[in-house]
Amino acid sequence: MLRLTVLVSGGGTNLQAILDAIDSGRIRDAQVCTVISNNPGAYALERAKSRNIPAVCVSPRSFPSRKAFEDAYLAAVRESGPDLIVLAGCMVVLPEQMVRLYENRIINIHPALIPSFCGTGYHGLHVHEEALKRGVRVTGATVHFVDSGTDTGPIILQKAVCVQEGDTPEILQRRVMEQAEWLILPEAIDLIAAGRVHVEGRKVHIDDYSFG
Ligand code: GAR
Repeated sequence: MLRLTVLVSGGGTNLQAILDAIDSGRIRDAQVCTVISNNPGAYALERAKSRNIPAVCVSPRSFPSRKAFEDAYLAAVRESGPDLIVLAGCMVVLPEQMVRLYENRIINIHPALIPSFCGTGYHGLHVHEEALKRGVRVTGATVHFVDSGTDTGPIILQKAVCVQEGDTPEILQRRVMEQAEWLILPEAIDLIAAGRVHVEGRKVHIDDYSFG
């Protein structure tokens, strides 16, 4: 059974998608052991608590320095004993030590088709604002392993979503979540739990998987 620690910062709809996928059997052999938020007001913490999943808040505001926060954040992660760390709407730039310690054991969901609309500053609604400003016809979501860069790690799964005439950032965000994020994040976890995902340099190989 793969032990998941899910790192969140906000509403937690991706966390909910993971929990629902475990309930329905779309994720097999994995359980959410701990949810950690940097934001005390994150609704994701309530979602965890309502299922009796340990929900921990480590807020930067409770610490005198960035270093002290990072130490406490990493300590909380280590204490949860994860096999896989899932960034589900996590807005924390992870401590370098954590990325090294859990190489190829941290995954992130990004609300665009990497390498578009990604990197420093591209998170949440802003990603969709930029996609609409640029006038792209297709956007989507990406699940990738986390390396020391921002959104630069090996790509596991991607799913495209069409932009519609009259979309607002909010409408597009919701469509990308419904048609891409909430599907590919659970799917990637299931594939990893089944031992089918292998990192080969900058690329990922998935055993017996057909795309499209
Ligand atoms: C999601 O759209 C996720 O892809 C994005 O934040 C949102 C969180 O929603 N993550 C990033 O932008 C990370 N760079 P949620 O809290 O409802 O899952």
